Amino acid sequence: MSWHRRKQICLLGFMGSGKSTVGELLSRELRWPFIDLDAVIEAGQGVSIREIFARSGEAFFRQVERAALVEVLKTEPAVIALGGGTFAYEPNIELVRETGGATVWLDCALDILRQRCSILQNRPLFRDPESFANLLELRLPYYRLAEFRVATDGRSPAEVVDQILRLRIF
Ligand code: S3P
Repeated sequence: MSWHRRKQICLLGFMGSGKSTVGELLSRELRWPFIDLDAVIEAGQGVSIREIFARSGEAFFRQVERAALVEVLKTEPAVIALGGGTFAYEPNIELVRETGGATVWLDCALDILRQRCSILQNRPLFRDPESFANLLELRLPYYRLAEFRVATDGRSPAEVVDQILRLRIF
C-alpha cells in the first residue's frame, strides 16, 4: 500500500471525538468529498439514528451500518467519518482494510468525550457516565488497530487537521 498515494481516509474514534467536524474540515483542505457514515444511514432509513435504535434495536442498526459502510467505501477519493462503533466490529475492520483506506483514530480523553456527549441528546449509546466509560474501555483495543493515532486533547479541529496532514498517508 505504501507505493501509491492513498485516496481514502477513514476517521474513527469514540462518540464525541470530533470525527464529523474534523472530517469536514479535512475534506475541504484536501478537496475530497466528505462522507459521514451516520448521515448516510439516516438518509437511507429516513429517520434519525436515535429512532433506528429505539424502533429496531442496536443489532438492526449494525446491519444497516455495515451495508452503508460497504457502499461508502466505494467512493474515492473521500474522507469518511465512521460511527463510534463501526471500527469495533471485526468484519468492518477487515472491510476497511481490504479497501485500503488509511485509518486514523482521533484519540480523545474520557472527560472531554463525556462532556461533549452529555450536551447532545442524539446518541442512543450515551446512557450514563459509567456505561459510557465502560464502552470506551471495550472499544479502545479496536481503535488501537488503526494505522494512525492523533491525540486531539487540547487541539482545535484545525490543529487536528494539521496533524493528519502531517501523517505519512499522502
Ligand atoms: C455509535 C456512535 C454514533 C452512531 C451510533 C452508534 C457507537 O456515531 O453511529 O449512535 O456505537 O458508538 P458517533 O460516534 O458519530 O456519535
